[in-house]
Order: sequence, then C-alpha cells, then structure tokens
Amino acid sequence: MQLLRNLLPFLCISSSSWRALAGTTYFQSSDYASGALGLGPMQTFKSSSSTPPAWNFVVPFNDSTSGQIESGLIFMAPRGTNVNTPGAMIYDKNGELIWDGTQFGETLTFKMATYKGDPVILLWTGQISGIGVGFGYDLILNNKYEIIANFTAANLNGSLADFHDIQMTSNDTALITAYQAKSWDLSSFNIADGWLLDSVAQEVDPSNGNEIFTWVASDHVDPTSCFASPGTSGTAEDNPWDFFHINSIDKDNAGNYLISSRHCHAIYYVSSSGDIIWTMGGHNSTLTATDGTNFAWQHDVRWHNDETQISLFDNEGTAWELDSSSSRGLLLDFDSSNNSYSTNTQWIPYNVTVSESQGNVGILSSGNTLIGWGQVPYFSEYDANGQFLYVVQFGVGDVQSYRAYHYNWTSTPSTRPSVSVETDGSNTTVYTSWNGATEVDTWQLSGSTADSPQLAIPISNTSRSGFETAISVTDTTKNFTYFQVAAFNSNKKIIAYSNFTASDGTQQNPAANQTVDSSSSNSTGSGSSSSDSIRVVVDGKMIMAVFVAVWTLAFVV
Ligand SMILES: *[C@@H]1O[C@H](CO)[C@@H](O)[C@H](O)[C@H]1NC(C)=O
Ligand SMILES: *[C@@H]1O[C@H](CO)[C@@H](O)[C@H](O)[C@H]1NC(C)=O
Ligand SMILES: *[C@@H]1O[C@H](CO)[C@@H](O)[C@H](O)[C@H]1NC(C)=O
Ligand SMILES: *[C@@H]1O[C@H](CO)[C@@H](O)[C@H](O)[C@H]1NC(C)=O
Ligand SMILES: *[C@@H]1O[C@H](CO)[C@@H](O)[C@H](O)[C@H]1NC(C)=O
Ligand SMILES: *[C@@H]1O[C@H](CO)[C@@H](O)[C@H](O)[C@H]1NC(C)=O
Ligand SMILES: *[C@@H]1O[C@H](CO)[C@@H](O)[C@H](O)[C@H]1NC(C)=O
Ligand SMILES: *[C@@H]1O[C@H](CO)[C@@H](O)[C@H](O)[C@H]1NC(C)=O
Ligand SMILES: *[C@@H]1O[C@H](CO)[C@@H](O)[C@H](O)[C@H]1NC(C)=O
Ligand SMILES: *[C@@H]1O[C@H](CO)[C@@H](O)[C@H](O)[C@H]1NC(C)=O
Ligand SMILES: *[C@@H]1O[C@H](CO)[C@@H](O)[C@H](O)[C@H]1NC(C)=O
Ligand SMILES: *[C@@H]1O[C@H](CO)[C@@H](O)[C@H](O)[C@H]1NC(C)=O
Repeated sequence: MQLLRNLLPFLCISSSSWRALAGTTYFQSSDYASGALGLGPMQTFKSSSSTPPAWNFVVPFNDSTSGQIESGLIFMAPRGTNVNTPGAMIYDKNGELIWDGTQFGETLTFKMATYKGDPVILLWTGQISGIGVGFGYDLILNNKYEIIANFTAANLNGSLADFHDIQMTSNDTALITAYQAKSWDLSSFNIADGWLLDSVAQEVDPSNGNEIFTWVASDHVDPTSCFASPGTSGTAEDNPWDFFHINSIDKDNAGNYLISSRHCHAIYYVSSSGDIIWTMGGHNSTLTATDGTNFAWQHDVRWHNDETQISLFDNEGTAWELDSSSSRGLLLDFDSSNNSYSTNTQWIPYNVTVSESQGNVGILSSGNTLIGWGQVPYFSEYDANGQFLYVVQFGVGDVQSYRAYHYNWTSTPSTRPSVSVETDGSNTTVYTSWNGATEVDTWQLSGSTADSPQLAIPISNTSRSGFETAISVTDTTKNFTYFQVAAFNSNKKIIAYSNFTASDGTQQNPAANQTVDSSSSNSTGSGSSSSDSIRVVVDGKMIMAVFVAVWTLAFVV
C-alpha cells in the first residue's frame, strides 16, 4: 500500500514528466552527482551504438516553470576524458538524444544558423592541438545533415580554421578564427629564437572559400600589453606564445567587427580597414566603465539590440589564475554617444564556481537566457528575471562542452531509421531509432517472411518514445522473419521506411514502391520538435520504471 500511495499522485502529473522518466535522465540524483554512477554516466541503445552523456536535472522543471521554457532543442558537444564518444549532440529538453554527430569527431563550435535562407548547422572538424587551438575545416550541414560547404581559413600560409568560432553574417559570409605560429623577437623575455602564436580573425565566403577580410592581432595589439606572459612558452614553433587568444567574432551592419581576446581581457571593435575603433576592457581600454563591469578570460562576445548591448561569458579565471569566486554570464549596456558601458544583467551559475575555460551566453527571443558553463558540466536556462527554470548536469568528472545552445531545429534525415530485433523465447521486441529525425510521431511496425521478405504486413502502431522506441510484437499467430518500421509524422504521412531486419541482423532493402518524397516530408507547422506531441503508452514495464523513480525522488527530497 505504501507503494501505491506514492504512485497515485504521480499518475496525475503532466505527460512531460512521464516521457522524461522513460529515458535515461536523472532528477536530483545524488548517485549521479556523487559519481556512484560513474564519472560520465551515459545512455545506451539497442538500435544505435550512440552513447550520449545522460543528464541529471539538478533543478528540474515542473508544471509551473515548464510553460516558460521555450520550445526547441539543445545543441552541445560533450568532450573530455570521461566522454565515451566526444562530438556534436542534439538533445530534446528532456535529455533524450535527437542527433549523434560524433562521426565528425570531437568538436567545439557546433551551432545552428541561417545560410542562403535555410536553417543549417555550423560545425568545426579537425585536429585539436596541445596548445589549445585547432587546425581544421568548418562544415555547413543542411537540415538532412548533408555537407553543403566545407571551407577553412584562406591565404594564411597553410594555417587552417580554428575551432573557437564560426559565425554566419546576414550576407551569408562566415566569420572564423585561425592561429598562426611565427618567429618573433622575445629577447626582452630572455627567449632566443622566440615564437609567437598569432590570432587571426577572418571573414570568408563559404561557397568558394574566398577571403573577404583578415585581421591579424599582432598588427594592432602590442603582445606585451595583455595578461598572459610567455612563461615556458615562446621557445619553439610548436610551443609558441599565445599572447592574444581570439575566441569569438561578431559583425554589425555598419561592417565593423567585434573581436574577443581572452588573454587581453579585452573586446576590440575593428573597422573594415582593420583599425581598432575602440577597446573595451583590459589594460588599454578606451571606453569609460562603471563598477561591476570588469571581465576576465572571457568567451562568446555578441552584439544585441542594434549594437546597444553586448553579452559575454565572463570566466573570471584560467588554468593558472582565479580572479573571482565564480564565473558569470554578463550583459553590458553600451552607450556609443559617450563611449561608456555599464552592467545590465549578470547570471551566476547554480554551481557557484569558476569555469576556467569555455562557456557561452545565449539570450533567447523570449527573454530567457541559456548559459553553458563550459569546462564545468552544467548548463542552465533562466527566465527574464534571472530565475532558474532548470539546471542540467551532464557529467561528473572531465566532461565539458565548449558551448550549449537552444534552437528550433527540424530535420528529416536522408538516412533510414535503424532497427534491431531481439527475441527472447516467444517474445520479440523491435527497437527503432532514426538518428537526427525530429518529425516522427508514430512508428508503424510491419512484418514479412523469409519467402517474401519485401512484402510487408502491418502489425501495430506505437507512439515515438524518446530516441529509441521499443515495440513489443504481441501477435504470435504469424511467423515473421523480417521486421520493418515506417515513420509517420504528426500529419499521418509516412516520411521514411527502414530496411527489413531479421533478429540476426540480416537486412533486406525496402520494397521498390516504398519510396518517400523527402522534399514534401518536412511538414510541422509549429517548427518545434516532434517530441512535443509524444504520447507514451503505459504498460507494465513503464509503471515499474515510475516506481523506481518515485522511490529515488522520495529519498533525495
Ligand atoms: C518549480 O521550480 C521552480 C524553479 O526551480 C521552483 O522555484 C518552484 O518552487 C517549483 N514549483 C513547484 C510547484 O514545485
Ligand atoms: C573537408 O575538406 C577537407 C579538405 O579537402 C577534407 O580533408 C575533409 O575530409 C573534408 N571534411 C569532410 C567531413 O568531408
Ligand atoms: C610560411 O610558412 C613557411 C613554413 O613554415 C615559413 O618558412 C614562411 O616564413 C612562412 N611565410 C610567411 C609569409 O609567413
Ligand atoms: C591601445 O589602443 C590604441 C587604440 O585603441 C592603440 O593605438 C595602442 O597601440 C594600444 N596600445 C597598446 C599597448 O596596445
Ligand atoms: C553586407 O553587405 C553590405 C553590402 O556590401 C554591407 O554594406 C554590409 O555591411 C554587410 N553586412 C555584413 C553583416 O557583413
Ligand atoms: C561544481 O563543479 C565543480 C567543478 O566541476 C565540482 O568539483 C563540484 O563538485 C561541483 N559542485 C556541485 C555542487 O555540483
Ligand atoms: C521556437 O519557436 C517558437 C515559436 O515561434 C518560439 O516561441 C520560441 O521562442 C523558439 N525557440 C527558440 C529557442 O528560438
Ligand atoms: C539498409 O541496408 C543497406 C544494405 O542493403 C545498408 O547499406 C544500410 O546501411 C542499411 N540501413 C540501415 C539504417 O541499417
Ligand atoms: C514474454 O513477455 C511476457 C510479458 O512481458 C512475460 O510475462 C513472459 O514471461 C515473457 N516470456 C518469455 C519467454 O520471456
Ligand atoms: C515458424 O517458422 C519456423 C522456422 O522457419 C517453423 O519451424 C515453424 O513451424 C513456423 N511456425 C508457424 C506457425 O508457421
Ligand atoms: C507495395 O506493393 C505491395 C505489393 O503490390 C503492396 O502490397 C503494398 O501495399 C505496396 N506498398 C506501398 C507503400 O505502396
Ligand atoms: C518544407 O520546408 C520548406 C522550406 O522550409 C517549406 O517551404 C515547405 O512548405 C515545407 N513543406 C511542407 C510540406 O511543409
């Protein structure tokens, strides 16, 4: 009876909580937070080899806050030694995987943008060097995850695009970062044959890789005027002194660039001729600041509100120096008429601590703000008054994400859904997932026999339930050898067929008449994830899962 009393109120809560409990998402779990579940708890599936980090909602959303949370999906790129497969990941807001993009490898910049009028993904891919910068290529993926552009830094004597930023402009050009080692006179630091790691901001045309604008930091900023001395660096081409450390670029409609230097604690406003118009922060600020505006080792500097506000992630520390007791998100008001700036808003993390690297601030159109805490494995969404709507922990040990974003993203991938069939005695379960798909509402299961593998007989319909849906085959009167799923969107239209799959993994192609016109399969209307319309079928196993969750919550509350 005790069990039933705990269960009854639970049965009345909203459907979003049902969904979340069905997946591997944790809620205020002390086992997760203490590391009892491992330093990088992860999800696993039958129909996919993906192992995305599992989330622990340290501040869960509830019936009173969930209405304030924007629709959309979370983009992040888990990395670190406790991440099984580092790389780009899209999740829904319940912590269920939507897309595993780890085939592109470990990445830092992973975001959504508009390119030539269409929603796209921007993704850096390449080599991450031991000196904390990258050499690689910037990809643009369309909404089927197909590569439509692959470009890098131009005319930099072989230096390739770095991972710190890719920002699309309204003119369909890309703002990117690059690093270049060059020999430099460091005799004033008693270093003979010195080497400098120069920072480069570039604007390029992704369609042809052409250079539009290049700004080289050492041409404009005296390397000795910043906050990172050479220390043991500067001695060799592969151990150069990173005096500036560019990590973001933005551009306004006036054609000027906003460049963030982490090691100079400064933001440079640069004209299209390369001249510095003003410097905000650092040793050489040219603006007037009020109290509380100081920032240090910052990331992700962006214009807002017609260039009257600037947001940034104020790390307040780095591996060798802490300047405060906590990092913060910061929104500054900028007054160009008298060259001054002041604090508008600051966001303090749930986990009040200094994140020594990475991090970002995403101000959403509703006024909510999503902050990724970078090196510390948390992100949090705040309402317009700066109150937490929810806080997610996505790892315990060395688990990081350079940034975390919240976007409306819809996709019907060009790949097929995956199917895995498990038979246990007389019971057969078909597991299905479709990496990256956002528009599936219902899975229709069909079966066929070895004699006519491509002749499908419909068996059942099951609402999509998270990344992977488990479908029990209850009709034991037929003797199916092969199973296939068809994905229906919320308009009851088929948007994909899987292969026919046997329990030993043998695959048969879909039938010749099972083709889907993918150009007309993107209908949603709402623009939000299909997970918003999931209905969960409550069966015996689900109720057991809920029992476990009730007891877990009862112990921690
Ligand atoms: C819902 O969550 C918010 C934010 O964590 C909290 O302040 C509020 O007390 C919660 N409300 C209920 C009914 O649990
Ligand atoms: C991008 O282009 C580079 C240079 O051609 C190539 O080496 C790399 O494999 C491409 N990346 C992808 C994901 O295709
Ligand atoms: C280009 O790179 C080569 C090889 O590292 C170097 O010898 C040369 O000085 C560089 N040229 C310029 C203009 O930086
Ligand atoms: C300080 O900035 C001004 C332009 O804003 C520039 O002329 C000057 O060289 C800078 N000084 C140093 C030490 O970087
Ligand atoms: C877009 O191009 C126009 C025309 O060249 C230019 O005036 C404007 O500054 C550009 N805007 C951006 C954001 O690059
Ligand atoms: C806050 O983050 C730090 C660094 O990851 C970690 O050591 C600490 O345990 C966290 N504290 C909480 C309350 O999660
Ligand atoms: C997604 O779209 C909805 C409807 O237009 C909008 O209210 C919401 O703010 C958007 N979410 C994000 C994260 O942009
Ligand atoms: C479907 O079968 C083909 C071979 O016929 C195979 O190449 C493909 O990877 C299969 N697709 C999935 C999603 O399993
Ligand atoms: C088949 O599933 C039912 C319901 O879950 C269960 O009671 C039964 O023991 C299972 N049979 C086998 C052979 O696993
Ligand atoms: C199902 O298939 C197996 C193996 O082909 C066969 O032994 C069995 O008789 C079949 N059962 C029915 C009901 O057709
Ligand atoms: C494909 O053809 C088979 C055999 O004619 C038919 O039973 C089935 O309904 C067709 N499927 C579709 C999607 O048209
Ligand atoms: C598919 O997307 C395109 C571009 O967003 C849109 O114009 C078209 O109406 C959509 N198709 C359907 C069936 O919704």
